[in-house]
Amino acid sequence: MNNFDFYSPTYFAFGKDREQDVGALIKRFGGTKVLIHYGGGSAPSGGSAPSGGSVVRSGLLDRVKASLDGAGVSWLALGGVKPNPRSGLVREGIELCRREGVDFVLAVGGGSTIDSSKAIAAGTVYDGDFWDFYSGKYIEKALPVGTVLTIAAAGSEGSPDSVITNEDGMFKRGATGDAIRPRFSILNPALTQTLPPYQTACGITDIMAHLYERYLTNTKEVEVTDRLIEALLLTMIHEGPRVIENPDNYEARANIMWAGMMAHNNSCGVGRSQDWNSHNIEHELSALYDCAHGAGLAVTMPAVFSYVMDHDVMRFAQVAARVWGCQMDFAHPEVTAKAGIEALRCFLKSIGMPGSLGELGGKAEDIPKLVDVLCNGDGRPGSITGFVTLNEDDCAAIYRMML
Ligand code: NZQ
Ligand code: ZN
Repeated sequence: MNNFDFYSPTYFAFGKDREQDVGALIKRFGGTKVLIHYGGGSAPSGGSAPSGGSVVRSGLLDRVKASLDGAGVSWLALGGVKPNPRSGLVREGIELCRREGVDFVLAVGGGSTIDSSKAIAAGTVYDGDFWDFYSGKYIEKALPVGTVLTIAAAGSEGSPDSVITNEDGMFKRGATGDAIRPRFSILNPALTQTLPPYQTACGITDIMAHLYERYLTNTKEVEVTDRLIEALLLTMIHEGPRVIENPDNYEARANIMWAGMMAHNNSCGVGRSQDWNSHNIEHELSALYDCAHGAGLAVTMPAVFSYVMDHDVMRFAQVAARVWGCQMDFAHPEVTAKAGIEALRCFLKSIGMPGSLGELGGKAEDIPKLVDVLCNGDGRPGSITGFVTLNEDDCAAIYRMML
């Protein structure tokens, strides 16, 4: 196992009706003037109230505001976060926070809203352009962030990461820093019951990707984290179909929600090298086609795994046997490895995920552009590195496998 530091100070409030505690939690963590950031609605202009968005429709936003009012915490609101959140709204949020003297950012929504909130929190207290963080600069300082999560998926509620799409070129990049780990996250599984089945399935896929991308390691003898990842994957395979079949299954949603947090706060990724090639390859898809991140991963993962399988056949055979229940073929472990990838592909299809680039709106003629932005964009060296290093030809071959 490699040496590691692990600092994960997020306070989690889990369960039914826990959003009622948001005002008290903001106070506890020192917030006095809060920016409530949320999705779907149009940004306020000319004093008119923001409209639209799932948290408006469900009444959650009103409950959050009432809780803040009850705790005597002042707030202002900025809606309009789109899935695959954009740099323009981040800039607007930074200006608003500076102008109004905001000292705490509260995300009410999914990974996109949380990531936009983290970007605003980091950018507000930074002298340069916030995009520096998305070009590789570590985030040392940020306003404190809290979250009320409405979808189990990205894991941003416990992660030190944020992913933003730069509208100047439409490419997506991540930033990281312990300063943007949320101070608290409220996880009420019942809030996810209003999700359309497709978004629920996208979330399940993303959670499984976060587990796979950690499982694909070049570090030897990492039994404890291997076993944690396997347990979480087994949980997703058990609970995923149950929640697709019955969206009101609170217990299944509760298990998925906590698995989603554990999958990505890195408790099962410490001490080992990790992959993230599937995520990087996918991010170009959701940036260019504006598809859901999870849907993009459903198409990307089987292609990437098939392409890199020979790098460590036994690792793929191990997950196939331990998680998917495939019979281990000791004489031909590549047969077991392939069966495991096929089992993943079938599982994702069974919960309603797409299986090809075309289903995401992608076209063969876009592949050179996708590869160029992926491998060379924003100062990258003509390749991406993870479980294996993939150059432009490799990435082009992987995108072609998705057609
Ligand atoms: O915007 P609203 O109207 O709220 O609708 C959202 C959105 O359309 C809707 N939704 C969310 N909760 C709902 C709901 N609809 C009904 N009922 C609810 N309870 O679902 C749609 C998707 O929301 P979004 O926030 O985009 O989903 P997700 O949590 O999957 O976030 C995806 C983003 O996270 C990034 C992805 O790249 C993508 O941009 N990621 C962030 C990571 C991180 N910060 O650690 C890691 C991930 O790997 C990922 O890359
Ligand atoms: Zn993801």
